[in-house]
Amino acid sequence: MVQNLKDTLRNVRGRWVKTSCLFLWLSAVGWLLFTFTRTIKLQEFQNLPNTVEYTIELKKYQSIAHFPRGVLSLPGPRELLHLKDFKFYNSKLNVCKSKNSLVLALVHTAPNHFVHRKIIRSTWGSVHHFRNLTFNVAFLLGQTNRRLQSRINQEMKQHCDIIQGSFVDSYRNLSYKHMMGYKWAMEFCPNAIMIFKVDDDVYVDSFQILNFLYSTFGLKPFNILACSVISSGTLTHRSGKWGVSRSEFSFDMYPEYCSGMGYFVSLDIVKDILAASRYAPFFWIDDIFVTGLVAEVLNLNRLPINAHTSDRPEEMTKWLRQGKGPSPYMLGLISPHNGMEILAALWNKTTIRANNYTGNLYIKNNPKYLC
Ligand SMILES: *[C@@H]1O[C@H](CO)[C@@H](O)[C@H](O)[C@H]1NC(C)=O
Ligand SMILES: *[C@@H]1O[C@H](CO)[C@@H](O)[C@H](O)[C@H]1NC(C)=O
Ligand SMILES: *[C@@H]1O[C@H](CO)[C@@H](O)[C@H](O)[C@H]1NC(C)=O
Ligand SMILES: *[C@@H]1O[C@H](CO)[C@@H](O)[C@H](O)[C@H]1NC(C)=O
Repeated sequence: MVQNLKDTLRNVRGRWVKTSCLFLWLSAVGWLLFTFTRTIKLQEFQNLPNTVEYTIELKKYQSIAHFPRGVLSLPGPRELLHLKDFKFYNSKLNVCKSKNSLVLALVHTAPNHFVHRKIIRSTWGSVHHFRNLTFNVAFLLGQTNRRLQSRINQEMKQHCDIIQGSFVDSYRNLSYKHMMGYKWAMEFCPNAIMIFKVDDDVYVDSFQILNFLYSTFGLKPFNILACSVISSGTLTHRSGKWGVSRSEFSFDMYPEYCSGMGYFVSLDIVKDILAASRYAPFFWIDDIFVTGLVAEVLNLNRLPINAHTSDRPEEMTKWLRQGKGPSPYMLGLISPHNGMEILAALWNKTTIRANNYTGNLYIKNNPKYLC
């Protein structure tokens, strides 16, 4: 009986020793693994932008100017950012005339992009009405040299869809162009429900867009800034075409902003951004200025539509070659290298596919309908 008890105790002790050893061994391995991964994580972290510093930087920026929506007054008729003698060369255009809810596409284009504009008019810009929405397209230009201007004058007379303002058209002046579009919308297009800002080197599936806008926001969209969101923390480039100096922008990182390739903004936000743009320091990279810095000042939310857009030209080419259904993207960057021909080809494919799902229920405009 006593012997039995001793045996049992010895067994228990043996098992206990074994268990403790195993436990110690596992702990040691665990601790090593933990330290190891922690070291890696810390190293990784040290290579990341310093988010604390970034938040402080943003706060600094916000303390320069931070306003609730709806309190700021709009710039005067001759004001555009810090220009005091701005004017539109043409204020009488029909692009905003519409009995129905209007989505106005404002296309950022360069003065010499005659072919871009021609192709846009005959492709995605030719859709005039779809899903209870009217869709009009206008092009934004600044001043240019006399030779180009005389060709532009002809183009204006022929198509009546060019909005031109009195600032020098150059890529360092893109923020003027961007805000000019907003100013036009507020002054001459208050009946539009939505502005669609888009670049001239982008494929646009007008059907998908109007379908998306109508079915998501209806006929009275409010407080909408829908775009392909680029998250905060993008490092500021200090050299190259898009390089900025410290005196132009002292922060090392950009706040969250919208890809300017193409985005949608409701008129109430257009108004607030236009008003707030006077209170933000000028920055020439327009997407970052308008949809980043000024939007940040107003604390706006950006609705991400990243999955519906592509900034890789090969994606659109791939669909053109082998896509079976409608375009996988409603907005897609196209390569400037293979010219605008690709846009025509993409649009051909879009209309063939579209006839299947729109049942031809869209109204095409006639090329001169705006005049
Ligand atoms: C949309 O248009 C159809 C006819 O095209 C009309 O019957 C319907 O009432 C419209 N819907 C709205 C919300 O306006
Ligand atoms: C931008 O536009 C303003 C106003 O027209 C002009 O004075 C300035 O030279 C332009 N800047 C560039 C870089 O073209
Ligand atoms: C698009 O279709 C039109 C009419 O069917 C045709 O004339 C044109 O060549 C096509 N364009 C491209 C780039 O495929
Ligand atoms: C359109 O739909 C029909 C029937 O569903 C199909 O047979 C045809 O291939 C489709 N056409 C295109 C161009 O997608």
